[in-house]
Parts: sequence; structure tokens; C-alpha cells
Amino acid sequence: MTVKRPQAMQEFLDAITSAADRCVTDHNAKISLSKIREALQTPSKMSDEVGTQLPIRDSLEEVANPQCFHRPELRHLIETFLRLEPMLTWRRRSGDMSCASENFADGHANANIIGPGGIERRTDVWLGVTLLAPNVRYPDHSHPPEETYLVLSNGAFRHGDSEWFEPGIGGTFYNSPGIVHAMRSDSTPLLAFWLLWAGTK
Ligand SMILES: [Fe+2]
Repeated sequence: MTVKRPQAMQEFLDAITSAADRCVTDHNAKISLSKIREALQTPSKMSDEVGTQLPIRDSLEEVANPQCFHRPELRHLIETFLRLEPMLTWRRRSGDMSCASENFADGHANANIIGPGGIERRTDVWLGVTLLAPNVRYPDHSHPPEETYLVLSNGAFRHGDSEWFEPGIGGTFYNSPGIVHAMRSDSTPLLAFWLLWAGTK
């Protein structure tokens, strides 16, 4: 049976893979992205879950204003994301909350777009988004798949033994498998996409 993607999903995937192509500099991230791009050529089963309301919508409205993105590929990515957003199931993180700020529970939301629990269900690619309200620190966490972040806002990140660093709008970085990592917003919301390769190749 041929699976067809909703137009909003296909346009978003085209936009994020093209933006990542332009923004990613790390060698390992480039290899990871090429595997992700190839796998995504084949659509997978769509979830029939209905989207859920985002609890921190004011933060999304503040950070995801297409007029504020000067690079055309990032502006286009935000526009396609906003069209997809009503389909998303926004969730709170569960599990270990090491080093999270006290306001974390009410100050964040994650949505899986592709992957387990995503709109498109599959195991080889996990692609999602994290939104933090201002002044929120995400817990330290890790996972077996390698991961590339594409950052669309201000905010700081750390991984492994690194200091906090600020990739900036359109900034990217690579998390090797199992590395501990975290993020925190400043006085403005944080918005970041993450693309994980969990396939066998
Ligand atoms: Fe991660």
C-alpha cells in the first residue's frame, strides 16, 4: 500500500531538510542528515491522533514570527512549521528531571513530528521540536540515537563536558550517541528542532 503524506507534512519536511543542508557544518551531522533524508523519501504510516493544544502558545507566537527571520530558508521553515503545528501532539517530558529548573513542567512542550509518537510513525527517523518559555532550564538527558539540532531562537546548549554555548538562529550542532545534553532559554523563548537517526545503517 502506498502511503501519501499530507501536503503540510511534505512541505515541512522539504523545508527542514533544505534548511539543515544549508546550516549544518559538523561532519558527523552531515552524514546523519544524509541518512535521514534518504529514509524520508519513503513515507510511513500516519497517526490518526488529533493534535493537542500547546500549553505555552504565547511563547510560540513570540518566537515563531516569520517576519523576524531574515534568512529565506529559515523563514520558509517557520512558515511550514506553523501550518503543520495544529496537527501536533504537544507533550510534557516524563522521566529523569536532573538539573531542570523549578518552572520546567509548565514552561516547556515537546512534539514528535516523525518517529515513535509522531504524526508519521516510524522507528528509523525521530524528528521533533522543543519549545521553552523564557528562563527555563531543560533537564540533562541522553539517548542512544545520534542527534542534530537546528536552533531557531536565542538560547544556550551544552553537551558532554562542554560549557554552555549559544548556536544562535540557524545554528546547529551534533550530539553523539548517548552524550548527556541540555538546553536553557534566556529572557526570550527557545525553539529548536532535533533530528535523530535511529536506523540500522
Ligand atoms: Fe536529545
